Amino acid sequence: MKELLIAVTGASGTIYAERLLRAAAAQDLRLGLVITTEGARVAAQELGWAVDFDSLQVSGLPREVEGKVLHFHPDDLSARFASGSSAPDAMVVIPCSMGAVGRIAAGLGNDLVSRAADVCLKERRTLVLVARESPMSIIDLRNLTSLAEAGAVIMPAAPPFYEKPQSLEELADYFVARVLDQIGIRVEHPGRWGG
Ligand SMILES: Cc1cc2nc3c(=O)[nH]c(=O)nc-3n(C[C@H](O)[C@H](O)[C@H](O)COP(=O)(O)O)c2cc1C
Repeated sequence: MKELLIAVTGASGTIYAERLLRAAAAQDLRLGLVITTEGARVAAQELGWAVDFDSLQVSGLPREVEGKVLHFHPDDLSARFASGSSAPDAMVVIPCSMGAVGRIAAGLGNDLVSRAADVCLKERRTLVLVARESPMSIIDLRNLTSLAEAGAVIMPAAPPFYEKPQSLEELADYFVARVLDQIGIRVEHPGRWGG
């Protein structure tokens, strides 16, 4: 069974994380979840999630996800994903703040998100960064370029509109399907372009 680590950082667009969790929970995957403190703040604002960092419980997660995801503390550098010997098969940072982009690009490794991402890069595992900021500064763009050069897949949170999604959830699902494509999981949905 493949192992996927999902990281939620403090950028807008936490709906993408929710929809990815929902889609991933329906697959034969071992799922890890790490939410930064700022990610929790934005998810509270956008989704109504409440993250308790002591008990590592998240209230507000979709019901389909409950019991299917192992939650890690963002400061836990002893978590298994912090070691190259236990790298996940893939990691998706969704949404990915410019702060997280900067920390990963600088190789800081001083929190679980940046360390696990660093591990994915050095162990040649798939690392997908759903970067979200607008506009981006030249610093953000340089950091993203460095990360692309290091092997990360940069997927700006830019969903497709051509199949006329009827809701925000549907729009996010179309985008999340493209994220899953990157880790070798194909989910059928009406948002795929058929020509
Ligand atoms: C409501 C809200 C929305 C934000 N949206 C973004 C965003 O879209 N992109 C971004 O890079 N930062 C955004 N930020 C700022 C980040 O949360 C901030 O830089 C934070 O330090 C990122 O921390 P993290 O990378 O540890 O999650 C937002 C902050 C708030 C409170």
